[in-house]
Amino acid sequence: MTTAQTPPGPRGLPLLGNTHQWARDPCDFRERCAERYGRVVNYEILGWDAYMLTDPGDVKRVLEDRENFPKHSGGNEQLEEFLGDGLVTSDGELWERQREAIQPAFYVSHIRRYADVMVSRTEDTTDRWRDGGTVNLRSEMMRTTLQILVEAMFGEAIDLEARGIYDAVEAMQEPLKPRNQPITFFAPDWAPVPFLRQADAALDHLEAQVYDILDDRRSSDTDRDDLLVMLLDSDAEMSDEQIRDEMLTFLFAGHETTALTLTYVWDLLSRSPRVEARLHEELAEVVDDRPTIEDVFEFKYVEAVVKEAMRLYPPAHEIRREPVEDVRIGGYEIPEGSLLVLPTWVLHRDDRFWDDPDEFRPERFLEDDRDRPEYAYFPFGGGPRRCIGQQFATTEAQLVLATMARDWTIEREYGDLELSASVTLQPKGDVPVTTKRR
Ligand code: HEM
Repeated sequence: MTTAQTPPGPRGLPLLGNTHQWARDPCDFRERCAERYGRVVNYEILGWDAYMLTDPGDVKRVLEDRENFPKHSGGNEQLEEFLGDGLVTSDGELWERQREAIQPAFYVSHIRRYADVMVSRTEDTTDRWRDGGTVNLRSEMMRTTLQILVEAMFGEAIDLEARGIYDAVEAMQEPLKPRNQPITFFAPDWAPVPFLRQADAALDHLEAQVYDILDDRRSSDTDRDDLLVMLLDSDAEMSDEQIRDEMLTFLFAGHETTALTLTYVWDLLSRSPRVEARLHEELAEVVDDRPTIEDVFEFKYVEAVVKEAMRLYPPAHEIRREPVEDVRIGGYEIPEGSLLVLPTWVLHRDDRFWDDPDEFRPERFLEDDRDRPEYAYFPFGGGPRRCIGQQFATTEAQLVLATMARDWTIEREYGDLELSASVTLQPKGDVPVTTKRR
């Protein structure tokens, strides 16, 4: 019998481990580790004993076995406090029941009904643009996807500004931004740190808004067809607290990732006139007047552009799990309770599976007949906890892109896109662009 060894990995500093290397550039750090150390890499960040898996078969094994590899419990305290027992943070039987109850709201038949909202709210955004004007691309995309999500959840055009929802969602995300993470992580709950206190106040505000909308709904008998109705009418008989948790979870998980995807799509298009031209060829062929859900079923290139952007810049740049007992992976012993890192970023740029991996080439999703393992590409995760909003997000990204690109193009007013990684992969700072009417 062979004895399993500890996997190799970069040497760290006492106490800090590899945190400083990770913090400087997490994407580059993980890529270099994968190249140098191979299938399983051991490092230490923020006090966790981390094991990064770079073999798609190992990733599959972990993601598809929820019992033995549940979500990693560390570092999520802030998120858990915000989101309570919603789908992202819960586990076990409660998660199972809730996932089953909520899943139908994301069937394609439902997403169809949100398509017009996706196009209309995008038009609201471009109506504000001026030919030659400057906007912050990231916040334009955030506002648009948040507005779409809120309307899909509550079934009416809720004024995000008037209700203070936009500002509150922004404030709620502040503690998770890379520049604030070390403070969020180490500061005690009561610490007088302004962004932490503002996040608490924002949470109270959002909670009050959700309860307010819930009260309105209970006292009205209008027929509706939105996410909230699905929760209220579900057989799972959810308490108001459970509905609050799910609503806040969707506010948190359901708009930023899509907004980031769209930000990256535009950044990449602005660097590739060839791809932009081919995108327009398809739009001219498929779209009559305004994009529709039927157009989405016809799109090939638009879909490939979105997929390729998520390959190069996966908003969920890594997924984390925890083994419930000591386990052997790739011939190495991995201890119970450690942090398993499934690095989307690394596998999406791995030249074992992708030719010229750093190039933006949507064609690879259409014409490339390379045989790739299933988990060489997993922007939405996999297994039972795969993203519930995958269809919603891919439909939305294509409709928003098609609606915007119909009349507009953008020019970058920045050089390279600098990235930082917290829960999601984000541009560092603003993303200023000039909007140009086509
Ligand atoms: C491009 C956009 C999106 C990306 C890249 C994305 C990515 C992901 C990933 C990777 C996971 C799995 C995390 C894990 O296994 O630990 C996840 C879970 C989840 N996502 Fe998304 N997501 C997107 C859009 C959305 C949207 C639009 C919604 C809702 C409207 C949504 C709601 C959720 C929820 C509720 C979960 C937790 C599911 C569960 O554990 O049962 N996501 N997402």
